[in-house]
Amino acid sequence: MAISSVMGLGCALQRLAVVPKASVSMVESSLSSSGFGAQLSDATTLSSHVRRRRSSVSSAKGSGGGGGHSHLQLLQSEFVPLMGIRRKIFSGASVTTVRGRSSVVGVVRSMVSSDPEQLRGAREEIKKVLAEKFCHPILIRLGWHDAGTYDKSVAEWPRRGGANGSLRFSIELDHAANAGLIGAIKLLEPVKEKFPDISYADLFQLASATAIEDAGGPKIPMRYGRRDTSGPEECINEGNLPSAGPPSPASHLRQVFYRMGLNDQDIVALSGAHTLGRSRPERSGWGKPVTKYTKDGPGAPGGQSWTREWLRFDNSYFRDIKEKRDQELLVLPTDAVLFEDPGFKQFAEKYAVDEATFFKDYAESHAKLSELGSEFSPPEGIYIDKKPSTAEKFVSST
Ligand code: HEM
Repeated sequence: MAISSVMGLGCALQRLAVVPKASVSMVESSLSSSGFGAQLSDATTLSSHVRRRRSSVSSAKGSGGGGGHSHLQLLQSEFVPLMGIRRKIFSGASVTTVRGRSSVVGVVRSMVSSDPEQLRGAREEIKKVLAEKFCHPILIRLGWHDAGTYDKSVAEWPRRGGANGSLRFSIELDHAANAGLIGAIKLLEPVKEKFPDISYADLFQLASATAIEDAGGPKIPMRYGRRDTSGPEECINEGNLPSAGPPSPASHLRQVFYRMGLNDQDIVALSGAHTLGRSRPERSGWGKPVTKYTKDGPGAPGGQSWTREWLRFDNSYFRDIKEKRDQELLVLPTDAVLFEDPGFKQFAEKYAVDEATFFKDYAESHAKLSELGSEFSPPEGIYIDKKPSTAEKFVSST
């Protein structure tokens, strides 16, 4: 299924967002093109609709055109909108097409906390996905874009944005800045299915930190237990993430990152994540379609990277954007300004020559980023490795 049609399905599903928390434990509905939203205008209608359609789904099991469902277990849940991803839908829901009609089954748990054992299990599963798909960069970007909407001037959760799992809803995934991130969600879907007792907010941050470490970067002192948003009405409006080519890059970066409560050092250190990955013109409008460094992958070929070895986390980003010698490598206006603005330059110069300091500062800033706006349950959070002491808190893994 083309991404556009996936997103189209996602949009249709968003209409379910108006449905208040339903007391049904399994939600299933027909997605025939007409009158879908109207049929499901309140929880009562939804419940009866579920009952009506349940039998037809059961009888459709195993029939052609996409097959049936095997996981209609009853869970105490609330209904949340579902993102269409081919047959399976993230957040424990599936889409199946039976005789030309798409059906949606949502089995959604209301996550109040994550289970430490499941977090550890999910981490091992994410490592397998990384080894197979070389998807480190996009998983890091997913975590950053979930967290980076945070506005410290808003006290109320989740209206303040931040790392709360809201990026799983297609209304937020549709924001221009998030183009392509549906690919990251797809990659994590099987992990979430296998380890359902972790929040999406935790899963996104776990995937990002695991990807940094797996690419050779520092061990991030992570805390888990993030609470999830439960509906797209809780998604933040578009416009909180930074632009790559604003008229005044330095003041733009400060405006955006200061709003999150981060500082100049954080801005420079976190920009160092661009040591990994590529920019693709068809997604962000930035970068070349392909370069000599990206033509063979690994993973899907194409795009323009900031560094030659764009799957290895090191400090080469700072050396490369300083030199600007290799036309095959990308330097965004917001990258270049790190060596132009005096407030940023002091850190960028240091990181270009001192990888250990970059790693230490990166780990600290990444941990901060990963907790922006989050509400933790329990309030002190969950540690899946030994809780870091102050002394060893930000030690590099290399
Ligand atoms: C400082 C402001 C930032 C700007 C203006 C910016 C902009 C961009 C742009 C335009 C892309 C290309 C997206 C595409 O075409 O697919 C990108 C990719 C990426 N960004 Fe940033 N970014 C910023 C900060 C960050 C931060 C803070 C992180 C993580 C801590 C990050 C991690 C990444 C990664 C890993 C990629 C590669 C994604 C991939 O290969 O799929 N960025 N960024």
